[in-house]
Amino acid sequence: MDTMELRNPDWDVLLKAAQSVLDNAYAPYSGIRVAAAVMTGSGQSYTGCNIENSSFSLTICAERSALFHALAHGEKKFLAMAVVTDSERVTSPCGSCRQVLAEFAIEMTVIFSNPQETKLFTVAQLLPHTFTLKHDA
Ligand code: THU
Repeated sequence: MDTMELRNPDWDVLLKAAQSVLDNAYAPYSGIRVAAAVMTGSGQSYTGCNIENSSFSLTICAERSALFHALAHGEKKFLAMAVVTDSERVTSPCGSCRQVLAEFAIEMTVIFSNPQETKLFTVAQLLPHTFTLKHDA
């Protein structure tokens, strides 16, 4: 990875935005707290965090929470997403999130940071040979 990209102040801002909602993660079952922030074409950033449920499959991940937050505000273009966790056991977005991110933001860059490492990918790199029914794909 190009370390210059990681020093980019825009990434710092987005990582800090994600970090600012990490305490709001609701993860009593896994103990894994995750938060995300997405930067949109309008220059706004929207945050989200994981929210678990007693019926485990109803859990929503931080990435989808942030993206849906932005979509609900009418955002259409997504430039970058930062994902943070304080768990050393998590390293990258889950498969469901990759599919949802691909629907709206196949070219978006995602930075994922845990206490051990930081990684940078595009959504297309995370989900090659994406399944899509979109006509413009
Ligand atoms: N989780 C996320 O929020 N994002 C991911 O990309 C991976 C998993 C959450 C969901 C669940 O609350 C916890 O981490 C353990 O799977």
